[in-house]
This record gives sequence, C-alpha cells and structure tokens, in this order.
Amino acid sequence: MKPSSAVSPSHRYARITGTGSMLPPRRVSNAELAEELAGRGLETSDQWIVERTGIRARRFAEPQVQASDLGVAAARHALEAAGRQPEDVDLIIVATSTPDMVFPSTATIIQRKLGIDGCPAFDLQAVCSGFVYGLSVADAMIRAGTARCALVIGSEIFSRILDFNDRTTCVLFGDGAGAVVLEASAEPGILASRLHADGRHMEILCTPGTVAGGQVVGDPLLKMDGQAVFKLAVKVLEEVAREVLEAAGRQPEDIDWLIPHQANIRIMQGTARKLKLPPERVVVTVDEHGNTSAASIPLALDHAVRAGQIQRGQTLMLEGVGGGFTWGAVLLDF
Ligand code: ACO
Repeated sequence: MKPSSAVSPSHRYARITGTGSMLPPRRVSNAELAEELAGRGLETSDQWIVERTGIRARRFAEPQVQASDLGVAAARHALEAAGRQPEDVDLIIVATSTPDMVFPSTATIIQRKLGIDGCPAFDLQAVCSGFVYGLSVADAMIRAGTARCALVIGSEIFSRILDFNDRTTCVLFGDGAGAVVLEASAEPGILASRLHADGRHMEILCTPGTVAGGQVVGDPLLKMDGQAVFKLAVKVLEEVAREVLEAAGRQPEDIDWLIPHQANIRIMQGTARKLKLPPERVVVTVDEHGNTSAASIPLALDHAVRAGQIQRGQTLMLEGVGGGFTWGAVLLDF
C-alpha cells in the first residue's frame, strides 16, 4: 500500500511502524579478543571487560562488508515489519561515522541498493547520538509535511577505525546496523525530542584523521578519554531525559522501556538509577553487541521488539550520547 498522497493536518505525528537490524555473523568473544591482543603484547581479560563495561562479545564484519550492506539489510527487515515496499519510502537518513566512502553518502548507496530513486537521502554525523538525531530530524520533516514514510538507519563498521594496539578502546566497540520505518500518523508516535552538542569536548572522543592530497592525514583511529566521556555521559543522559519528559508532560514512571546508547552497562544503570527506573526496564544488548555507535539504539530496539519485550502502546525513551560531544533523547509511544 502506498502512503497517502498528501499529509492531512490530522496526520501530525510520526510513528515507528517497523524495526529491523543486521549483525555480521562473526562473533568475537572477550576471550578470543584477549588472545588476539596478547599476540600484540597487550594484556586484557574477559573478567576486566565484563566488570568495567558489561560487554561479553561483539560482532566484526568481514573486510568486504560495508556500512551500506548492513544498513540495507536492516532497512529491508524494518520495511517488512512495517508492511511497506522500498518504493513507499520518501526519505532516507543514515546515521554513521564509518561511511562506505568519502562521498556519495551511504544513504544514497542504500537508496540505490533498495532499487529506488528520487527521494531525499543523506548521512547524518553525530557519532553515537546519530540515530536519535536522525529520528528527531525525520520526525520534524514528517510533521512539516515534507515526508510521509522515512527510513532512519544507524549503520557502523567501527572495527575499521579501532586501534588494536590500544586496549583501552578496542575492546569496547563492534559492528552492526539497525533501522526503523517512521510514518505520518494521526496517533502518536514521537511525543518529544531534544538534541544537544558541545564542541568544546571534541578531543575526549574523536577519530581525528582525514583524507587530503590522496593520503590519510592525521590519525584515522579512534581516541577516547574513557573517564571524561563516562562522567559527561552520566550527567547529560539524566538531564536530557528529564528535559524530554517535561516537554512531553510525562514522568519518569511513565517510561516502560529505557533504550540508552549501548556503550557501558554502568552508564546505563547509572542513568536508570537517577531516573528511579528499575534495571528490568532498561533494554540491554551491550553484552552481545558491544558499542556499535549510531547502530546501538535501533539494534537494541529491534532485538527487544522481536524478543517480545517491547509491546505496541508502550512508552519508550531512546537516549544517545557520543563524540562531538553530542547527546539527545526521544520519547515515543510505540
Ligand atoms: N584490559 C585490562 N586493563 C585495562 C583495559 C583493558 N582492556 N583498559 C584499561 N585498562 C586498565 C587501565 O590501564 C588502568 O590501569 P592502571 O590503573 O594501572 O592505570 C585500569 O585498567 C583502569 O582504567 P580506567 O580507564 O580507570 O577504567 P574505567 O573503569 O574508567 O573503565 C572505560 C574504562 C570502560 C573505557 C570507561 O571509562 C568507559 O566506559 N567510558 C565511557 C565510554 C563511553 O561511554 N563511550 C560512549 C561514547 S562512544 C562514541 O561516541 C563513539
């Protein structure tokens, strides 16, 4: 079925009608990674990684696989769940920090792989907050009447930018993609969203290299001051959650599921504690996925939906935080 040809004033909300995800098949446990790092003279252990982060394993993509490959597979699953065809899509936003190439955007590559053309398609760079940023932008475009059926995708191959000689970062990240179909609706839908950034903190989490004159200039591998990121993340995730709740006229106890960026179980539990939410209401996939940056929230959402945890009609709080520094939250009725 095609979406309606004009946005009726009554269709003033944007609602998630389908979710999807894709993980590369290669699962790398902490023990396997520790063994590989030992070969480089670096000491780590399953115990250290689990205790400090909650991560037990991550997926790594094979060298020939690109962010668009994972992203298009996640998008197809989301379209199927929504009962939509690729030709119904009139907006594609891809949140990624690991695009296929400098340009064109991964969004246009996914558009081509879906076999469609004409609709706007662009990448959005807000690192681990990218999916929440993308959802908020798509919501605004749908409410403005410029889109009716959007694909919002987070897709990352972070293994390509990890420094496997730095045990403080390479154990934390993984590859994957998640997607949602967001459609104009008479019913909510997204209730409120808030986005923030503060470039003064850019050095605490960055991949500072670039391409110039046919060469990589600067360091193209991820750098992070973990403790500085940790402190800032716990602070801003509570603040932005309260800001969005207030904007929507809701209370923390109205949240059925908190779906935070899956970076570190201690950050996620800390945020839930501050909001006085029991740990059972936090969706956790960091144990099996690691930190998949912009893909982590839609991946967690899709896994919880397909596992039957998240039900239609429940209220979800999605929260992202990442390099830039960027952060944001979206409150929605599912
Ligand atoms: N294995 C074993 N030991 C390690 C490892 C490792 N993989 N990594 C660090 N250590 C050591 C350190 O060298 C240090 O040793 P020392 O005491 O002898 O100096 C010790 O462990 C403690 O290190 P800390 O950095 O203090 O460990 P901490 O408890 O802070 O945990 C971590 C580090 C997991 C990185 C944490 O700070 C964190 O999760 N930070 C936030 C990350 C995050 O949320 N990122 C989100 C955004 S990601 C994005 O936007 C791309």
